[in-house]
Amino acid sequence: MTDDRGGQSFYDQVGGHETFAALIHEFYRRVAGDPELRALYPEEDLGPAEHRLLIFMEQYWGGPRTYQAERGHPRLRMRHLPYAVTPSQRDRWLRHMFAAVDTINLPEAHDAVLRDYLVRAANMLVNAEEPS
Ligand code: HEM
Repeated sequence: MTDDRGGQSFYDQVGGHETFAALIHEFYRRVAGDPELRALYPEEDLGPAEHRLLIFMEQYWGGPRTYQAERGHPRLRMRHLPYAVTPSQRDRWLRHMFAAVDTINLPEAHDAVLRDYLVRAANMLVNAEEPS
């Protein structure tokens, strides 16, 4: 697949579906084992949430546009408003995501680009203060 400028997308450069599926699967395995973060996820089965994050990430990085087809415009901030994303929940989310990124062993430059994006996206989604 090519990106807007006719080059190879980040999605392709890092190994496409296989890489993203492994990343998101590793992430949700960690969410499942973290009761405090897990409590935010409304569904008993994390499978559907895993699917939604996977298709979002694949689309974001230049892969198939399945997210747009299934869910429409991402509007991530709005979609997180039902959940209290406090700074400490953000930190948990990011800690598990970074541990998942560790497992896919990307080349250094790609690894840095991915982590930088994840930090910025997670910061953007904080929508609640710490409960006192
Ligand atoms: C900051 C910490 C975060 C927390 C605590 C959090 C929590 C949640 C929760 C509880 C859901 C609902 C689960 C579901 O899909 O059924 C959700 C959905 C989702 N999150 Fe997050 N999230 C965080 C950060 C992020 C980031 C950084 C991204 C993107 C890079 C992201 C992308 C998504 C997507 C795509 C969905 C599904 C939206 C939809 O189509 O309905 N989240 N998140």
